[in-house]
Amino acid sequence: GKLAGRFPLYAHPSPSSDQEVAQVLKKLQFGTAFGDFMSAATYTEDEGWHRQGTIPYGPLSLDPAAAVLHYSQEIFEGLKAYRHADNSIWAFRPNYNAARFQASARRLVMPEMPTELFVASLIDVVRADTRWVPDLKGSALYLRPFMFASEGFLGVRPAVEYTYLCITSPVGPYFKSGFQPVSIWVTKQYHRAMPGGTGAAKTGGNYAAGLIAQQDAKERGFQQVCFLDSVQGEFLEELGGMNVFAVSKDGSVRTPRLTGTILEGGTRLSIIQLLRDQGREVIETDISINQLVSDIKSGEVVEMFVCGTAAVVTPIGHLAGENFDVTLDNSALTEQVYDHLTGIQYGTIEDTHNWMYRL
Ligand code: COI
Repeated sequence: GKLAGRFPLYAHPSPSSDQEVAQVLKKLQFGTAFGDFMSAATYTEDEGWHRQGTIPYGPLSLDPAAAVLHYSQEIFEGLKAYRHADNSIWAFRPNYNAARFQASARRLVMPEMPTELFVASLIDVVRADTRWVPDLKGSALYLRPFMFASEGFLGVRPAVEYTYLCITSPVGPYFKSGFQPVSIWVTKQYHRAMPGGTGAAKTGGNYAAGLIAQQDAKERGFQQVCFLDSVQGEFLEELGGMNVFAVSKDGSVRTPRLTGTILEGGTRLSIIQLLRDQGREVIETDISINQLVSDIKSGEVVEMFVCGTAAVVTPIGHLAGENFDVTLDNSALTEQVYDHLTGIQYGTIEDTHNWMYRL
């Protein structure tokens, strides 16, 4: 296509051998293996976006005073490239990620990367790393575009120089347990975001802020933590890397409305669309944890699931907090949603929304 070649390919001094690639693709986890290349660009006020290239993956040379290391001026994205049966390679809704990257940039006072340049960076790095795109269902090449303040300066103000990179990582399921139901601790002690904060932006600080809650949940024997709103401490927000849904016995589905403190997930948005296509009622609303727990106990809520690019669609089997502990044993709709979404992504179900983009 016309966007290819905007990040010219540099020679790699020591690319992985086909054997090494095959070895890694045989046993995939999440986020532990990386491709041979990364696309890169620099932004300065004077020159705009420049120094674009697809260069060997490797350590960066960075000024120790780079503002990102001190004040966290950083944003990122996550999306996947899928190999179809005919060996063509497709990204899921890259324009959506481009737009969200621009929204995050505005919140962090960083330069917006034009959609065409963002998509071009994906095309070029995936073409360079095409051997790293697995062909197993449930596996994909995870793409991680990110941008950070690389100017060396210790004053607190938006930087004047930024580095953009997109690395690739062949991945299997995010949870070691795969599609098995996950357990979730709902924390009252910690919050991820607050009104006026950065919760709706995909910025590293949000994830750093959630680590202690995630650790606390792990220590209690749960796989993930769910955050509540920071004003009333009552309404479900997200897991800090995944959005959450609840299915009622009448077949309607609820998910927290976007309040400005929740990250709008592309998977969340796509699931809402797919469910509405089926004529199902999907309600974006405030979900009180107390009401939810009593609805689970009474059988009003029959099923819950989490979703994200990394997590795909995973049922919740166990939900607990300081004063409740409930289990869910139904995942019928969750499985249907998983099959539908991944069918589109892996090219076995018709993509009526034109979400797939050939790389
Ligand atoms: C995603 O790509 O799904 C993320 O939100 C990032 C992280 C949880 C792996």
